[in-house]
Amino acid sequence: MIRASKAAFISSAVAAFLAAAAGDAQDAPGSGPTSVAVSDEGRKIYEQICQACHLADAKGGGGAGAVIPALAGNRNLEDPKFMIEVLMKGRGGMPWFNDILTPSQMAAVINYVRTHFNQFKGTVGEADVAAFAAAAGKPDRAECVTCE
Ligand code: HEC
Repeated sequence: MIRASKAAFISSAVAAFLAAAAGDAQDAPGSGPTSVAVSDEGRKIYEQICQACHLADAKGGGGAGAVIPALAGNRNLEDPKFMIEVLMKGRGGMPWFNDILTPSQMAAVINYVRTHFNQFKGTVGEADVAAFAAAAGKPDRAECVTCE
């Protein structure tokens, strides 16, 4: 379950981002193939959380001061560990998600983004996310702009 209070907070953060990025919203599907079997959970998490900032086609967007990188066709995502790190620790204007998504949910959305919006091989599992968490330790809450 995604915690409601945090989800609501993120929604308002998202609204602020979108206010700056208005006009870029698109409802088109991603350009990647859908032939790869990806869990429906990953798609749902993307649609409920990530899409608000990264947009439905994962091509990102941005306007005055707020730039959201594209996840579609993004070679940084070729290394699955990169996505684990971004989701676990946050990055710049992006909040971290380790307190609202379980390791298995993070793995699901990572696999969805890497295969639906990109054609990268290999998937990550819950154990990969948990191993990263164990190695990296908890992020510094003082730096988190979205934590209660
Ligand atoms: C509140 C808006 C917001 C939400 C929600 C959000 N992101 Fe982001 N994301 C960003 C911003 C802004 C950046 C750029 C951060 C930076 O580098 O300064 C980013 C960067 C990223 C990157 C790194 C891209 C690169 O090449 O550097 C990945 C991967 C990513 N997001 C995945 C996700 C996933 C998966 C979700 C859903 C679980 C998600 N994001 C939800 C705003 C958001």
